Amino acid sequence: MSLLEVRSLNLFYGSKQVLFDVSFSLYEGEILCIVGESGSGKSSILYSITGLLPPSARREGKIIFSGEDLTALREKEMRGIRGSRIGMIFQEPSSYLDPLFTAGLQVEETLRSHREVNDYQEAAIGALSRAGIPQPEEKYSMYPHQLSGGLKQRVCIASAIICDPQLLLADEPTTALDVSVQKRILQLFKSFKGEGKSIILVTHDFGVVAEVADRVIVLKDGRIVEEGDVFTIFDSPQHQYTRKLLSAL
Ligand SMILES: Nc1ncnc2c1ncn2[C@@H]1O[C@H](COP(=O)(O)OP(=O)(O)O)[C@@H](O)[C@H]1O
Ligand SMILES: [Mg+2]
Repeated sequence: MSLLEVRSLNLFYGSKQVLFDVSFSLYEGEILCIVGESGSGKSSILYSITGLLPPSARREGKIIFSGEDLTALREKEMRGIRGSRIGMIFQEPSSYLDPLFTAGLQVEETLRSHREVNDYQEAAIGALSRAGIPQPEEKYSMYPHQLSGGLKQRVCIASAIICDPQLLLADEPTTALDVSVQKRILQLFKSFKGEGKSIILVTHDFGVVAEVADRVIVLKDGRIVEEGDVFTIFDSPQHQYTRKLLSAL
């Protein structure tokens, strides 16, 4: 069953159109990778889904999440969904984390804004642990500057999963990390998929695609030029642009 269905999405920033008739589905327990060069519109697709767009932006089309059209919701209703039923992970954990608060409090904050539980600290430590952080009790009280890039990204992942969202959106989440850390984070995404979560992972790196994708969308200048399961994309890419991206691997 499809958890998310994007139908004929057009996106404009002012008078400039950056997404053209983008349509795709995402199924339960599936990892979909969106691949394309810088500027092709990958992040814009994620921002269109979450509604985190600048005031100049205008969307056309439908974004059906669990049977509900997100484009028809008010900002207040979207705030209830973001962080709760849709988790987000970004490229630069440092720009997302607040240097003045401990890792644990920041993870707790996401939970506080959506749920009432008895013990927030215990829940945050649990999320840090599920995000693959060793000694989570210790890391709970550490500040971002005391953590490595890989750990900071895991804190962001903990924050993204603490409310147990059905959908995870990740925008180049491993680009700033070295290869071994990258592998472990991708492993974590596969384990979330094993729990039945659906994931959209944006990347310009076909190495990442090979590691985790079930299905792939290739984006060029705001248009989907190719879509298929990961084996077909690697074995017989149809579009010259896909072959060019693959040759960079
Ligand atoms: N806030 C914005 N205002 C105007 N143009 C933007 C804005 N954000 C992105 N763009 C433009 O939209 C296009 C797609 O950008 P983006 O979605 O960030 O691509 P990608 O994530 O693939 O690098 C680019 O041409 C970019 O310059
Ligand atoms: Mg981007």
